[in-house]
Amino acid sequence: MLNELKKLKDQAIKEIQKSKALDQLRGLEVKYLGRKGELTKLLRRVKDLTIEEKPKFGQLANEVKQELSRLFLDFKDRLEPSTPGSSGAGEYLDLTLPGRRYLQGHLHPHTLIQYQLEEIFSNMGFLVLEGPELESEYYNFESLNVPPAHPARDIQDTFFIKDKANQVLRTQTSNQQVRVMEKYGAPLRAVFPGRVFRNEATDSSHETTFYQWEGLMIDKDISIAHLISTMKTMLKGIFKQEVAVRLRPGYFPFVEPGFEVDVSCVICQGKGCTVCKKSGWVEMIGSGLVHPSVLRAGGLNPEKYSGFAFGMGLTRLAMMKYGIDDIRLFLSGDLRFLNQF
Ligand code: PHE
Repeated sequence: MLNELKKLKDQAIKEIQKSKALDQLRGLEVKYLGRKGELTKLLRRVKDLTIEEKPKFGQLANEVKQELSRLFLDFKDRLEPSTPGSSGAGEYLDLTLPGRRYLQGHLHPHTLIQYQLEEIFSNMGFLVLEGPELESEYYNFESLNVPPAHPARDIQDTFFIKDKANQVLRTQTSNQQVRVMEKYGAPLRAVFPGRVFRNEATDSSHETTFYQWEGLMIDKDISIAHLISTMKTMLKGIFKQEVAVRLRPGYFPFVEPGFEVDVSCVICQGKGCTVCKKSGWVEMIGSGLVHPSVLRAGGLNPEKYSGFAFGMGLTRLAMMKYGIDDIRLFLSGDLRFLNQF
């Protein structure tokens, strides 16, 4: 009978290993371990054994039962892979398999740059203030010296909201300027990160939705020197090297005088490449001294206070820092792009 038991075990193992589907496996379980199964049949014949044989047989029968039960569980798990995290008793565990990789989230390049800028400016005592993306025409344009029929509105063609008179998707983070002056008064140091919108035909350097980074500093006797040193501190913090800047006159209705700040191309170190269009300089920042009528709109006295403001494409900065040549990648949701960060 001991031999029969061993045969039964070998036979069962063979069949289990060959089983291809759960149903088949369940059938085998009934056939071997069921109440009327092969093992039970053998056990019924224990009474025919001698006193000496009985314990030996009993022990082996138990072992066979346990081994087969385990095997059934293992194969069930193989045929029906357990979901990650479940810890059912029968979970199949093969320590030689490579571990399951859990996908981890990571920060978007916009966010990476934004956090770096927030740290740089917090260290200089600036508040970080986000503002509304749906904005009144007043804060987006009028308070910034751009009256309704002013041609400067054409430079920032925007999206108007149906059924909401005088509301637009903000075209610039400058919408925050007068808002924060009203709220915090002077002196004031604040930066405004945020998403902005423009009615643009998209191409590799234009998008309808992108991110800006803006700064405003108001105090007594603020000059262009403060503006330049703040820009240099910011660029050094981002690019981890001294970066030369160049100011050209630029027109923005809410600053006087206004400047375009060009940044020495960090891709080619100013030698000339495709990113800087062979000029060695990249146009990156709009800036200037806050226009007296904007200070007045914010409730401040231009005789007493002056300030600088600057605004730039956070997206553009991320492109420079990470060498990204197409702005459309940022919001494409393309994981081949995103997973590189
Ligand atoms: N808001 C301007 C733009 O979107 C940038 C700017 C900000 C210019 C502040 C001057 C001062 O282009």
